[in-house]
Amino acid sequence: MLDAGGQYCHLEARKVRDLGVYAEVRHSEIPAAEIAFAKGIIISGGPSSVYDPGSPTADPAIFASGQPVLGLCYGLQLMAHLLGGHVRPGERGEYGLATLDLDESSDPMFSGLAGSQQIWMSHRDVVESPPEGFRVVGRTDTCAVAAIGDRARRLYGVQFHPEVVHTIRGLEYLSNFVFGVCGCSKDWDPRHRLPLIESEIRETAGDRSVFFFVSGGVDSSVAFALCRRALGGERVRGVYVDTGLMRQGETEFVRGLGGLAIEDASAQFLGELAGAIDPETKRHIIGEEFVRVQERIIDSRSLADERWILGQGTIYPDTIESGGTAKAAVIKTHHNRVAGIQKLIETGRIVEPLKSFYKDEVRQIGREIGLPDELLERHPFPGPGLAIRCLCAARNVPVERIAEGWIIPVHSVGVQGDSRTYAAVLAIDTMDHARATALTNRIRGINRVVAAVETRVQIHEMTVHASALSPARLERLRLADAIVRRISHESGFDRKIWQFPVILIPLGSEDAPDSIVLRPVDSVDGMTAQSVSMEPELLCLMCEELLKAPGIAGVFYDLTHKPPGTIEWE
Ligand code: XMP
Repeated sequence: MLDAGGQYCHLEARKVRDLGVYAEVRHSEIPAAEIAFAKGIIISGGPSSVYDPGSPTADPAIFASGQPVLGLCYGLQLMAHLLGGHVRPGERGEYGLATLDLDESSDPMFSGLAGSQQIWMSHRDVVESPPEGFRVVGRTDTCAVAAIGDRARRLYGVQFHPEVVHTIRGLEYLSNFVFGVCGCSKDWDPRHRLPLIESEIRETAGDRSVFFFVSGGVDSSVAFALCRRALGGERVRGVYVDTGLMRQGETEFVRGLGGLAIEDASAQFLGELAGAIDPETKRHIIGEEFVRVQERIIDSRSLADERWILGQGTIYPDTIESGGTAKAAVIKTHHNRVAGIQKLIETGRIVEPLKSFYKDEVRQIGREIGLPDELLERHPFPGPGLAIRCLCAARNVPVERIAEGWIIPVHSVGVQGDSRTYAAVLAIDTMDHARATALTNRIRGINRVVAAVETRVQIHEMTVHASALSPARLERLRLADAIVRRISHESGFDRKIWQFPVILIPLGSEDAPDSIVLRPVDSVDGMTAQSVSMEPELLCLMCEELLKAPGIAGVFYDLTHKPPGTIEWE
């Protein structure tokens, strides 16, 4: 798998491994001679344009090596460009679901896949004309060259992402390539990973002990439990920091996990955040305070001395550094800035048993070592907690009416083609995901579309109010979040989805200054996500309870997929 800089590259490699075929990620520009051993080559997607100066390229000799090559998204464009085809900027981006029409073909790459099918796209540039020798076999409404192949040379490319679940038949494309075209056999087996993980932990730790900052989330809890299994409870210690930005009942839940010390730092966090409005400032302050608390804990317990190493619940997506995942950079910078932790990392005194696994694999491993489903099925919850779900505003600004709906002048974060954007939100009056996708692609200056589900005040009378991260607003959000979690758990809805952020936005009237946005999403690993629909009766029940809560003017429903909107709003 040649990495052309895309956030999807490692997922693509893992999907190949899931098929039972060993795959390894290498830099896209690796000389062809160094990968001559491979049975086949896949060039990943990536955020660049082939015409950007310094954009990733590949050794053209790979196309003449006789090895089969499959280009995915940017990989397709790069292959077309290097072989004399023409790539040009698209008139508009295509982010999200699309329908592919694939021709009937006897080519093993496309065998059995002909017809109309749902695929998932994230691109702006398009291949206008493929290189000589290639045939166009698939297209969408906005992308005339969505699948190409040169059967004689065994070179193929698709513009969509076969590795994400939303490309319904995606795995069949990868399977056709690795088995049908490359002739690989199914000989890679992940079953023996547990003893391997444990022996790796023992090897890394040597005779030292391990300490963890545990968040109560799945990853750090599974990593903590794995270390305790490998080294025994005496040699593994964990601390949980209560930031005051947690959900209702969280600290009690974590206490129930056992083996952890709890550090109450809520006054410290809330004090520093009192005047913060800007999302990046909020994240920065939280990072700073984490640094302080962690330093305090490390110093007071002498954790930086030779007898200790740091354990972390880093999972594979955390290590991928791109604009698409905020979390990699954020977590890394915070930890690297704690002097004691920096020293541990620099001297290799760190153990990250889950570093090469994705979330679903982490859950499987947790199950294999007997952790309860109540813990393993928990939805992910971001480190900065409710702070990044409680939007603030510097001044009062009214909503603006446009032909398609209302522009809500809050700034939410999104990811369009791999770079992060802050933009306003469009509210429409229908729960129409297809329309929402079309509107985010078409209207510049927005990255999200929400449906107005029910409001106590007419939307045109609403204003975004100057507001900060006050204890009262956090409490309002905590209550709303608890209502949504309860109803979604009782109805079983929470088991059908990946995550259900509840967002408080400062939109309303004088006596009900805030509104709630419901953001249920489905995802496999958090890197891409689909906004999911909810039964109308369930939504109705949630709205009714939420609108009874003091200070809530309305309930909105986020219809945006990721991309272009991130899962969280900040
Ligand atoms: P986004 O909002 O980038 O989120 O689509 C992807 C996944 O990452 C989680 N997330 C975070 N987790 N610290 C964390 O520990 C963070 O700063 C952070 N930001 C986002 C988010 O909840 C989702 O699961």
